[in-house]
Parts: sequence; structure tokens; C-alpha cells
Amino acid sequence: MAVGKIEIKDVSKIFRRSEEEQTLTALDHINLSIEPGEFVSIVGASGCGKSTMLRIIAGLEKPTLGEVIFDGETVTGTSEKRGLVFQNHALFPWLTVWDNILFGPKSTGKIKDKEKIALAEKLLKQVGLEKFKKTYPNQLSGGMSQRVALVRALTNEPDALLLDEPLGALDAFTRMSIQDALIDLWKSEENTMVLITHDVDEAIYLSQRVIVMSPRPGRVIEDLKIDLPYPRNRSDKNFTYYRNHILEKLDFAHQEENIEYMI
Ligand SMILES: Nc1ncnc2c1ncn2[C@@H]1O[C@H](COP(=O)(O)OP(=O)(O)OP(=O)(O)O)[C@@H](O)[C@H]1O
Ligand SMILES: [Mg+2]
Repeated sequence: MAVGKIEIKDVSKIFRRSEEEQTLTALDHINLSIEPGEFVSIVGASGCGKSTMLRIIAGLEKPTLGEVIFDGETVTGTSEKRGLVFQNHALFPWLTVWDNILFGPKSTGKIKDKEKIALAEKLLKQVGLEKFKKTYPNQLSGGMSQRVALVRALTNEPDALLLDEPLGALDAFTRMSIQDALIDLWKSEENTMVLITHDVDEAIYLSQRVIVMSPRPGRVIEDLKIDLPYPRNRSDKNFTYYRNHILEKLDFAHQEENIEYMI
């Protein structure tokens, strides 16, 4: 059976600010189903609840209403089946690249597993960093660190990898090369990918489906299948069509928000 299915069922998240007894609705009745092995991106204005949604899928945060079902089971906490990569790669500075990558297997006692080591070697080679095993994080560029963070997450063999703007802090050139590495990793590992990004082109370039969210409170306002073969061409006319369509949705939602605000 294919694994890595994510079902978000009527999820709302309301934060309470106890001091003033104010509440803030971050997510408003989100329904979304992600198939095993699917690559889905989520775009939306800053503060619309994207990270909150990812944290709920990961099990780091509980929904106020609704539930997330992962491979048939309600998510109640974190699990190594769901890996996470953030914008700030958070490598351990006192460990080498290789020891960072093997941190997970070491802590779960799988370090002697030959297949694990072979997988880590293979993934590191795939991102072009096989010569940097003994290097410490402070000697790596931001792009290299993010590659290590991706390899580290995938070495734990998660069924789903949750990515919260993992390339957000990188320059455009580095970003494009890691986007290609990410597609390569996804194709070889066949896990589910959920990517949050502010970059509409990145979403179209990488994913099979793009979810557009409204400004806060976050709702799903568009669920768009990207029907283009890989590798994709950013100047292709169909690519441009998807880009314009998503940008229009984002802009329209933003204008609607302003009208509500003015009332
Ligand atoms: N722990 C918390 N307590 C109170 N409010 C919170 C908490 N976490 C998030 N929020 C609020 O929920 C809303 C959504 O936050 P979230 O970080 O999910 O947005 P986002 O879409 O990821 O934004 P960005 O694109 O800037 O990363 C924001 O208004 C934020 O202030
Ligand atoms: Mg965020």
C-alpha cells in the first residue's frame, strides 16, 4: 500500500491571547486531501496560516476544530513518518555534515543499518556534497546547508516531507539549482512533499498541485492541478498561464481582504 496520505478535515485554528481575551482565527475550515507521493505546494499572503497548517500536519500544534488524518490515523503528535525542513536549516553546529545527517538514525539506533548509510551516501551525492562529509556547518554556504538539511530529513525515510519555505533565504540562482535537486530527491524517494513557498514560480516549477490560500483567516481559495511534464520550462506559455492565474487569485483575495477591512 502506498503511504504518506494526508487528509485535512475541516481544520480551524483559533489562537487565544489571554491578556486581552482576544482571539485570532488563523485557519478557517480547511479541507484538503494529499495523495501518497504527491508534490503539493501552498501559497498565500504572509500571516494567512501556512506555517500553522504545516505545524498541525506535523503534529506540533493541535487544531481547535477538525483533524488531520495521516495514513488512516488521526495525528496526535509528531512522528518520524513526517519530516520537517524549515527556512533556517538548524543544523547542529558542533557536528560535521555527516554526523548531522546521521543524527536521526543514531538516536533511533539504526546507525548500524548498512542500508541507512548507503541511503545517506546516495542522497548526499545526489545533492553534490559527497566531498563535504567532514565539514562543519559554519564552513558551508546557505545553499549547501539547506541541501544538508534536506538530505538529513530524507535519511530518516519519512513518508511525507513538510517543507516550510526551505529555500526562502537563498539567492535566485542557488534556489533554482536546489529546486532541481528537490525534484530529483522526490523522484528517487517517492515520498509525499508539502511545500510552503512565497514564490509562485517555485510552486509551479516543483509541484503537481498548487493550493492558494486567502489572507487571514486562511481558507483554501484555489486547488490547481499543474498539468506540465518535468522538467518544466519557466518561459513556456502554459507555465505563464499558471503563473498569471495564481497571481490573479492572490491579488483578488488581497483586494477582498482590504474591502472587509475598510467596512
Ligand atoms: N502561537 C501563536 N500564538 C498566537 N498567534 C499565533 C501563533 N502562531 C501563529 N499565530 C498567528 O497566526 C497567524 C498565522 O501565522 P502563520 O505563521 O501560520 O502564518 P504564515 O502564513 O506562515 O505567514 P508567513 O508567510 O509570514 O510565514 C498570524 O497572524 C500569527 O500571528
Ligand atoms: Mg510561515
